[in-house]
Amino acid sequence: MAFDASRPDLIVGVIGTGAMGRGIAQVAAAGGLQVMMSDSRPGAAQEARNFIEKMLARAAEKGVMTRDEVVGAVSRLQIVGGLADMKPCHLVVEAIVENLEAKQQLFAELEGIVSPDCILATNTSSLSVTTIAARLKTPQRFAGFHFFNPVPLMKLVEVIEGLRSDDWVAEALMVIGRRMTREPVRLKDAPGFLVNQVGRGFTLEAAHLAYEGVAAFADVDRVMRDVGGFRMGPFELMELTGLDVTQPASELIYHQFFQEPRYRPNFIMRSRYEAGVLGRKTRRGFYDYDAEMKAIVPPEPAAPAAYPGNVWVSPAESRGHAVLSELLRKIGAQMETGSRPSTNALILVTPIGDDATTCAVEQELDPKRTVAVDTMFPMAKRRTIMTTPVTNPVYRQAAHGLLASDGVPVTVCRDSPGFIAQRIVAMIVNIGCSIAQCRTAQPADIDKAVTLGLNYPHGPFRFGDVLGPDRVFKVLGAMYRIYGDPRYRPNIWLTRRARLGVSLLTPEP
Ligand code: NAI
Repeated sequence: MAFDASRPDLIVGVIGTGAMGRGIAQVAAAGGLQVMMSDSRPGAAQEARNFIEKMLARAAEKGVMTRDEVVGAVSRLQIVGGLADMKPCHLVVEAIVENLEAKQQLFAELEGIVSPDCILATNTSSLSVTTIAARLKTPQRFAGFHFFNPVPLMKLVEVIEGLRSDDWVAEALMVIGRRMTREPVRLKDAPGFLVNQVGRGFTLEAAHLAYEGVAAFADVDRVMRDVGGFRMGPFELMELTGLDVTQPASELIYHQFFQEPRYRPNFIMRSRYEAGVLGRKTRRGFYDYDAEMKAIVPPEPAAPAAYPGNVWVSPAESRGHAVLSELLRKIGAQMETGSRPSTNALILVTPIGDDATTCAVEQELDPKRTVAVDTMFPMAKRRTIMTTPVTNPVYRQAAHGLLASDGVPVTVCRDSPGFIAQRIVAMIVNIGCSIAQCRTAQPADIDKAVTLGLNYPHGPFRFGDVLGPDRVFKVLGAMYRIYGDPRYRPNIWLTRRARLGVSLLTPEP
């Protein structure tokens, strides 16, 4: 098909001019494309055009665009009465209500209006691109063109090939996406596409560990910000998005994957969703809100003034032993150097994946004096420790006091395989690897999409490489062994690269 995606007179139709459609129209017009806008609600397209004009004027005030560029972009926005007027379009992007019937009906109508080589694209966030195209006479010219909210600020666009899409369609959308000043990433149709699939690792694993009572919502958020390097904790993020969006999307992805345990939703989200405790939009969610809509975050308990006598660090994990010993020496702890702890020493273990109980039992250490420290993540901004169910509170306090004695906050969580950050990040890496293994997208593209679309500090592959594929594999292996839950089984892509000692980005021939 000789489709010229670079032609200067390219016309893009946008149907549905709500939150997403108006954003798509804005970036298309700002990128130099002619835009035709239509909405079934009378006056909606005009409202959208007025809104875009205001947004572009603001861009000019900030110096992001010149006034001439704004005038040019606005002149390229044309409101049309209905589908029949979309005839001259080279591409039509649909951003109507998220309903399969409605979308299929719209495209069936459009198919009889536009020329045979016009690309038809959906901005759906959760429906299958292949299914939307299934009733078309020409599904080969159909694809997903998935933008993120708010469109002008979110550079990513996922270009999704349905099962019956021709290659030229995705190739053309990649070019058009760039003309719209987006960063397009190409992938094959899959539940949650790419970004929304990886995002389940962050939110759902947080929900699972909070459900188990490992840590409070605010503690999980603090750890993921300060230790994991995320801009927002998983509960803060769900508060902002709203459980009315996150929960149905999570359940849909889980069922679309035939109840794959990796994507299993959690009851604490479901019950809140059903109770209407949705987050900021209902002024109540995982947090409560004050009159100014600021989240009321429970304060952290002050670090105890307690301090241990002797401290013995387990050598079982050599890297963790080295990192923690160096930190303790800097802090000025009284360290023991013997191969076993003395009778009253505080015992510190540094598990990768194991819980404190497993460490104490398998290393034949006194569980009453054992405290685990997470050394897999940087410890400069916050430290995470956990205890066995029988750790004497005096030893817990001593470990807390010691590790906070240089002013760095410490989060104390209950015993859990993988602490907080290890298990959440391991799930993100595992899901990223399963996307690559299924050939949904290339590893480098997955990393790019996740950093752009989710603002994570790294994509799953880079994150795994920074932490060490062998260690991420170990975290998942320990979680799988301790819980006996296939949710935590390491993906085969990760397993092979960890065992070979190579980067997770290593492609298959
Ligand atoms: P919205 O409710 O703000 O806008 C939808 C617009 O479509 C409304 O103006 C409505 O009047 C119009 N509409 C409904 N049925 C129509 C029809 N048959 N023909 C023409 N116009 C019709 O919805 P929003 O948030 O803009 O979402 C639109 C699509 O974008 C959905 O498929 C959604 O899943 C997807 N999406 C939404 C994201 C978000 O964060 N809101 C992110 C990515 C995708």
